[in-house]
Amino acid sequence: MWDAESQRSLQKLPWVCHVEFHPTLGSTNDRARQLLDEGTELPALVVAGQQTAGRGRLSRSWWSPPGALLASLVVGADIGPELPRAMAVVAPWTGVGLADGLARIEPALPLWLKWPNDLMVGDAKLGGVLVECVPDAGGRPQWIVGVGLNVNNVCVGKRVPKEPSDNRAAISLRDFSGRSYPLADVLGTLLSALAAAYSQFRADPERFPERWRIYCGLQGRRVRIDSGHGQTGVGVCVGVDADGALRLQTDSGSVELWRHGTVRPA
Ligand code: BTN
Repeated sequence: MWDAESQRSLQKLPWVCHVEFHPTLGSTNDRARQLLDEGTELPALVVAGQQTAGRGRLSRSWWSPPGALLASLVVGADIGPELPRAMAVVAPWTGVGLADGLARIEPALPLWLKWPNDLMVGDAKLGGVLVECVPDAGGRPQWIVGVGLNVNNVCVGKRVPKEPSDNRAAISLRDFSGRSYPLADVLGTLLSALAAAYSQFRADPERFPERWRIYCGLQGRRVRIDSGHGQTGVGVCVGVDADGALRLQTDSGSVELWRHGTVRPA
């Protein structure tokens, strides 16, 4: 999947100053954190052929077989607003950037976003984003944006390890189209789209809700949200605000803002 030629082409990727490839790694996010400790020039990128300890949101594990795209982008504070605003917005901004890139790679793909950062096709998960913040010595955020995307790994019809509380199936680009994709090209397209999305949203954060709406699969639907800290809410999803928070219209008509949690159709 990552032959010598495709590994070489990683050195020509747009935007990033430092790229490293590991055939097998515990977690690209963990290696990305070491790059920050080592003072590596940013943006930097860590790519793995497979992971033995891939991590997902909410302390879940992430299935990371060969053929999947497994990468962590390390960027500085300049991609987004200052803390604490940035905390909730970087993950959904990333989701929109990846969706833009995927629309170029596979225009027929009926991709939708499930807040805050799931990439979905139908009821199946195509990919996810794990964003971690490591403040620098001056307290400014540095971001580790881990992306796991099912590309050439076959998921449909397989017993894919499921997230414990989310019994949805997985799907890959290859399951969808029957084709296989050069992973370095996929990564190049996604990086260009991400750089463009970050710069657009940083220049004009108010445009983010309108851009999210294009991909939001739960817009206008009744949903349930679980904060993961004992709070739950039910209402109609009415998009996101410019800070990335989910807007939920409750039965009383008021709109609640949720900054963290897991959402599913009610
Ligand atoms: C999710 O729970 O939906 C987020 C999954 C993120 C997985 C990616 S794979 C590359 C990077 N390294 C990790 O350990 N996790 C992220």
